[in-house]
Amino acid sequence: MRSMSTHPIGVFDSGIGGLTVVRSLMERLPFERIIYLGDTARVPYGVKSPDTITQYATQIARFLLQKEVKLLIIACNTMAAVAYHSVKELSPVPVLDVIEAGARRAIEETRRKQIGVIGTPATINSNAYARAIHRQEPDIRVFSRACPLLVPLVEEGWLNHPVTRLTAEEYLRPVMAEHVDTLVLGCTHYPLIKPLIQDIVGPDIRLVDSAEAMANITAHLLSEANLGTPERNPPEYRFYVTDVPYHFQTIGESFLGRTLSHVEIIKW
Ligand code: DGL
Repeated sequence: MRSMSTHPIGVFDSGIGGLTVVRSLMERLPFERIIYLGDTARVPYGVKSPDTITQYATQIARFLLQKEVKLLIIACNTMAAVAYHSVKELSPVPVLDVIEAGARRAIEETRRKQIGVIGTPATINSNAYARAIHRQEPDIRVFSRACPLLVPLVEEGWLNHPVTRLTAEEYLRPVMAEHVDTLVLGCTHYPLIKPLIQDIVGPDIRLVDSAEAMANITAHLLSEANLGTPERNPPEYRFYVTDVPYHFQTIGESFLGRTLSHVEIIKW
């Protein structure tokens, strides 16, 4: 059988937020080819029902599998929270997800075993982070809070705006009242307001960026499974979206941290 090591990594998200994961992957694994799909026509997923989210997630996974990816990465916390098992069931290649990555990192970071998690309503209602943490460390206390307004504020580009600060303060107050020492940024959009969140919670609280954690876990899996590319030329990146919404290029580039080119629109 031909080795799959030169095949691309498939990364998907409900929209452009997962580009924060792609950005970490590009930095950590600079020779790996990446195919990204952002379902920009149907975002946001965070306020949709588990059935709908699962249906969308499996449709996207099938699309990427047809592109012969060697690994699937669910970059969206919301999809990982409710559809991981359905994606895993249909995939012949390994499936990694941001929740497992973030949970592992949070366990490493916590000193007093008090972890806070913020995310979309679907992610928080699924309790997926608490379950992932408790599978490994049952005696850790987890305090979760849904922050539905943060995704639209980040998409508006209000990364350091007084309205975003006020909103984040309101959401974080009850989490801080529980004396957490570690806070998981359980949504692809939150790494963009990491400085603002750190400023609100103070320097003693460790923030867990699941995008960074994901890149480390991916590097580990590729090396364990002997799936890392032997190529040493600049790799090819392909970006598929299902729509090109307002401000797409500007917002996409702020998530990715570089120019966003080779973007193709697909229609299901
Ligand atoms: N990508 C989603 C997540 O990480 C946020 C955006 C959405 O609601 O679809 O949870």
